[in-house]
Amino acid sequence: MNATILDDLRAALPQLSLLTEAADLEHYGRDWTRRWTPAPLAIALPTTVEEIAAIVRWAREHKIALVPSGGRTGLSGGAVAANGELVLSLEKMRSTLEYDPVDRLLTVQAGMALETLRSIAAGHGLQYPVDFAARGSASIGGTVATNAGGIQVLRHGNTREWIAGLTVVDGRGEVLRLNRGLVKNSSGYDLRHLFVASEGTLGVIAEVTVRLADRDPPASTVLFALPSFAAIMPVFAALRDRLRLQSFEFFDACALKHVLHAGAHAPFDQPYPYYAIADVDADEAGLLEVFEACVNEGRVEDGLIAASDAQASALWRLREGITESLAPHTPYKNDVVVRTPRMPAFLAEAQSLLGAAYPDFEVAWFGHIGDGNLHINILKPAALSQADFVQACERATKLLSECLQRHGGSISAEHGIGLVKKPYLHQTRSDAEIAAMRGIKAVFDPDGIMNPGKVFD
Ligand code: MLT
Ligand code: ZN
Repeated sequence: MNATILDDLRAALPQLSLLTEAADLEHYGRDWTRRWTPAPLAIALPTTVEEIAAIVRWAREHKIALVPSGGRTGLSGGAVAANGELVLSLEKMRSTLEYDPVDRLLTVQAGMALETLRSIAAGHGLQYPVDFAARGSASIGGTVATNAGGIQVLRHGNTREWIAGLTVVDGRGEVLRLNRGLVKNSSGYDLRHLFVASEGTLGVIAEVTVRLADRDPPASTVLFALPSFAAIMPVFAALRDRLRLQSFEFFDACALKHVLHAGAHAPFDQPYPYYAIADVDADEAGLLEVFEACVNEGRVEDGLIAASDAQASALWRLREGITESLAPHTPYKNDVVVRTPRMPAFLAEAQSLLGAAYPDFEVAWFGHIGDGNLHINILKPAALSQADFVQACERATKLLSECLQRHGGSISAEHGIGLVKKPYLHQTRSDAEIAAMRGIKAVFDPDGIMNPGKVFD
């Protein structure tokens, strides 16, 4: 059956590069979640928008599900292909298409890695201000499909703010050139924004036009050791009110322990319960003033201001190395967000409910807390089977999502819903909203071939 379908695809698109080896199916069928067994039909590697459109039209005719695929660094299972889907990888579409220095727009094929796009921007003396630890592998198309956030959202917003145009192939096989780089465009619905955070459920993002920004002024990097959870938001407010913050992140002793175990150097002589790392527009005197005030108020126990770029990078590695250092423990990830004034109450409640429900589980708390986004990673005890662990974590996530609902938050801030958070979508979005989302999907993907089963059934 598979062989017949693939023969048909080969006959329809003889130039298309197609992978069918077991190792390729395994490699392209999964993302960073590692929970599902990859089982795609094959991997298609188109090189042009027209080729993508031809694949989609073929898939529509044959009722074959498609999974658009970028760097597969996603953490919600959005790029998993575990049910005989055809993976449509953008891996061969990584070129720059156009640079417009007047409007400061860069147009690239969607398979380009975020890091490459950032360095092209830097080569033009500008910046693309979306950034996160997986920059080397994450594709720009994937960052659009999840509306990726990261460590600079506080200052610059998330991916959506920087998208000036998209070329997409929707589930009907139509090529849509959305917004075309215009700064102003009040000509009806802005379809571009429907594709941002659509997680491949409406179509394939093929080309992306991003706005570039002036570079940030030089930064001072500071790491604070904090005595309690309760100290984090007051320290954030002190830095924000007195200085120009570029980013503000936190992590707990558990997260640091794993990063140190993976080879990083301990920043202080002794461990502390929590840490905050921040970049501010360079102002060492101002930083010292905030540091002293926070120490006097009992909110900061110790601190380090980076004396060089190398030291700043070493401090940032403590935060950016967390995901990789936790990976061997197959963590169950939560990516929650509430408005920042709600954060102290939410944190206290979430911590006590997780502590009470799962006193034996190790939990790493970290994230971009300055924008209200918190990552809660539950680590699998070695003795527990993966299935029992996931079941327990799903119970914990239900409690968390109820707590989030009470605080007006969302179950996904920047990772997306994918497969992992699908059961909790209704706690973040109303029935009417979900019905509207289904209606939008039916318009762009009438046969339901685009990443079926992701976000909602
Ligand atoms: C991060 O901010 O490091 C990732 O988005 C979070 C994670 O690995 O849970
Ligand atoms: Zn994050």
